[in-house]
Amino acid sequence: METLKIGLIATGGRGRHGFEAHRPDQGIEIIAGCDIDPEAQKFFHEQYPEALLFDDYRDLLKVKEIGAVIIATPDYLHEEMAVASLEAGKAVYLEKPMAITIEGCDRILETAMRTGSKLFIGHNMRHFPVVLKMKEIIDSGLIGEIQVGWCRHFVNYGGDAYFRDWHSEQRYSNGLLLQKGAHDIDVMHWLMGSYTKSVVGMGMLSVYNRCERRSPETKGCARWKIEQYPPLEQTGFSPIIDVEDHSMVMMQLENGAQMTYMQCHYTPDAERNYTFIGTKGRVENIGDSGECEVHVWTQRGPRKTPDIIYKLKPVTGGHGGADSPIIDNFLDFVRFGAKTNTSPIAARQSVAAGVLGHKSMRSGCNREDVPALSKELVEYFENNQVKK
Ligand SMILES: NC(=O)c1ccc[n+]([C@@H]2O[C@H](COP(=O)([O-])OP(=O)(O)OC[C@H]3O[C@@H](n4cnc5c(N)ncnc54)[C@H](O)[C@@H]3O)[C@@H](O)[C@H]2O)c1
Repeated sequence: METLKIGLIATGGRGRHGFEAHRPDQGIEIIAGCDIDPEAQKFFHEQYPEALLFDDYRDLLKVKEIGAVIIATPDYLHEEMAVASLEAGKAVYLEKPMAITIEGCDRILETAMRTGSKLFIGHNMRHFPVVLKMKEIIDSGLIGEIQVGWCRHFVNYGGDAYFRDWHSEQRYSNGLLLQKGAHDIDVMHWLMGSYTKSVVGMGMLSVYNRCERRSPETKGCARWKIEQYPPLEQTGFSPIIDVEDHSMVMMQLENGAQMTYMQCHYTPDAERNYTFIGTKGRVENIGDSGECEVHVWTQRGPRKTPDIIYKLKPVTGGHGGADSPIIDNFLDFVRFGAKTNTSPIAARQSVAAGVLGHKSMRSGCNREDVPALSKELVEYFENNQVKK
């Protein structure tokens, strides 16, 4: 089999996750990287001294031997870079969220279908052990037909990670309901077996707008520090913050079920806490990575006594052990046409719910309806990106 040669578009931040794809013993090699930050370039060069290094991703795309690229640049660059990579005939691993507009996602999907270049979206939460366990329980029918899903998302690193750099501006991220919530909305769609049809949202910027800012000339530092709490006592925030620091959205799904997602960026603790309620019971995760539990209730009784408790052992690797499996899945998809846990259509649908949730909360909390995708696009991606 021919060696699969890979180029990394972004070698800093999340871009380092792409390093996992370098597996010369399996015939997969990273042969090029691109970043605009000298430090990210230096780090990449130290790891891969033989690899080509670029400042401009368009030069990387000109390298004919590259069969696949991993794009981990900030969200506002995803649409342009994914479209150009697909047009250049490269298979694409694109970080979530797919894009910051619905139109951007649709352009990416249409380009993938027209060119036949393979598209994979990095929704790594579909490989989280706790999510897989809840999916297994729901799919077994144990708790009946799922009617309701709730997610409370406590983001204690919000002030470190999202209010000091590009994330804090709508023009770069659209907003954090989309930026972070795309993960959870995607998980909820997956577990509830449907997509959002309409959404209503409410949210505010009420804490980080009151914190001390850095000057526009100083580079933002989004490093996580546990001692950076409580938020109002912290400094160094972005000169422009126009995204909400808490948000709440309610979604009507196509299959009749309903769900809600709540996100807050100034909690002392961090967890994604999901619960799914069916006609015969309820499932909930306690902890989302490391040592965590999944509780199931199938009989009436006190909340503190679930009928079944699954104790999940910690798994090694980034994001609760999800980061390696998702790269494995991408490589198997590109090389062997393997089935994927993630789905480009689902990624678009989570962006749609996030974008419209933001639109609703910013314009009087009106109901917003998700625009439908063409049947042709849906069929193409349902058929694992093979034209019938
Ligand atoms: N799936 C996950 O769990 C996960 C986790 C973290 C981040 N992400 C996603 O990864 C992406 C990057 O996030 P991040 O936190 O690493 O951001 P970041 O700002 O820390 O890093 C982005 C990298 O892209 C580089 N870059 C910026 N503009 C570029 C350009 N024009 N050409 C080449 N390189 C460029 C930067 O120099 C930097 O090295 C986002 O879309 C984010 O949503 C996903």
